[in-house]
Amino acid sequence: MQLLFLLMIVRAYKYIKQYLQFCRSNERILELQPEGMSARYYGLILLRNPIKMLLNFIVVSFCFILPSSFIKNTLYRFIGIKVGKNVIIAMGVLMDPNHPELITIGDESILGVGTWLMTHELTMKRIRMGRIDIGKQVLIGARSTIRSGVIIGDRAAVGLQSLVLKDVHPKELVGGVPAKLIKKLEELV
Ligand SMILES: CC(C)(COP(=O)(O)OP(=O)(O)OC[C@H]1O[C@@H](n2cnc3c(N)ncnc32)[C@H](O)[C@@H]1OP(=O)(O)O)[C@@H](O)C(=O)NCCC(=O)NCCS
Repeated sequence: MQLLFLLMIVRAYKYIKQYLQFCRSNERILELQPEGMSARYYGLILLRNPIKMLLNFIVVSFCFILPSSFIKNTLYRFIGIKVGKNVIIAMGVLMDPNHPELITIGDESILGVGTWLMTHELTMKRIRMGRIDIGKQVLIGARSTIRSGVIIGDRAAVGLQSLVLKDVHPKELVGGVPAKLIKKLEELV
């Protein structure tokens, strides 16, 4: 058993290097297909400073129940999320606690209740990580989910309960599962 664990650490090594390189770069998406490793060992690749991980989980969980406030935005900044000025982040918003530093939210944007921002994804054979970049004056409708690697342009809007898998251009209203273009916006919604 211990031998298997050691073997997994050796196998994980090359992927850990790619993962760390991605974190230091400006690349948007990293996809890894670890050979000879089952999904239960993927955690070895994404392992980081345990104190930092614990802090992220505490802040994200606490902010989940806090209403929008200056304190909440400050706490998010503390764990590495780039939160612009006058951003409104409602209760029930879930920032990915594994890699919060990959999230950017532009000035005066609104994130509705129950929005999820996922910067990492695991499948049986793959790890995907990506930066989420939300522009300025963007509205994310309540209970929407934004996938890793997605950029949402300035003054765009996402309708309620949408699943955003692809980039949204500035001044576009998108909605649905998966989110599709509804219309171009002349003004803020
Ligand atoms: C985006 C939003 C503001 C648009 O509202 P609106 O300007 O009144 O637009 P409408 O409701 O008239 O919808 C316009 C079109 O978009 C479609 N649409 C709106 N929201 C949609 C959604 N979430 N998914 C799919 N289509 C949607 C409508 O069906 C309509 O299509 P049609 O013209 O073919 O009938 C609204 O849908 C929304 O998401 N509000 C939530 C705001 C929110 O969550 N704020 C943060 C928490 S308080």
